[in-house]
Amino acid sequence: MKTAIIYVSQTGFTKQYAEWLSEETGGECIPFAEAEKTDLSGYDAIVFGSWCHAGMIRKLGWFKGNLSQWKDKKKVVFAVGASPAENPEIAEALPKNFTEEEWEQVSVFYCPGGLRYEKMKLSSKVMMKMFAKMMEGKKDKTEDEKIMAEMIGKSYDISDRKYIEPMVEYLKAE
Ligand SMILES: Cc1cc2nc3c(=O)[nH]c(=O)nc-3n(C[C@H](O)[C@H](O)[C@H](O)COP(=O)(O)O)c2cc1C
Repeated sequence: MKTAIIYVSQTGFTKQYAEWLSEETGGECIPFAEAEKTDLSGYDAIVFGSWCHAGMIRKLGWFKGNLSQWKDKKKVVFAVGASPAENPEIAEALPKNFTEEEWEQVSVFYCPGGLRYEKMKLSSKVMMKMFAKMMEGKKDKTEDEKIMAEMIGKSYDISDRKYIEPMVEYLKAE
């Protein structure tokens, strides 16, 4: 199966997951800027990996805009965020990026990344710092919120190759 692995990554976590996936599946990694100019008709599977920004998957509009052209292809989205994989909010947040019809056509996965303040654009850094301050000051935090509030003040890496396993299995299945 010929697989295109298109990725959008600001600080490297999504790129790393795309590369791990490429090693496991033999798929071709294509940075988003290049994918927009690439003829993808010859691929059997299209994987789109991108990072979460305030609950939304970056550049997903481009992927969704192409779904009608990819009717016969396997379609996968993986989202990378700062939340641990166990965070129950992920299962609620991901479907909000899709209409019901789109959701039925795509297999969606989540891979935890982390935060790399040193690689963020200034605007991202400012937004994250504001969010971190807000979380810190929030009263009556849930246990999950307490953990997040402590984590997001500085850079951390919770990515792991193991998180691609369900995706690899899905891509390799007939
Ligand atoms: C402005 C901003 C908003 C973010 N919003 C979310 C979010 O809603 N959920 C989440 O899990 N992570 C969020 N993140 C964290 C990124 O998704 C995370 O750092 C991800 O690993 C970045 O991937 P990349 O290294 O490929 O750019 C946000 C980061 C920034 C800078």
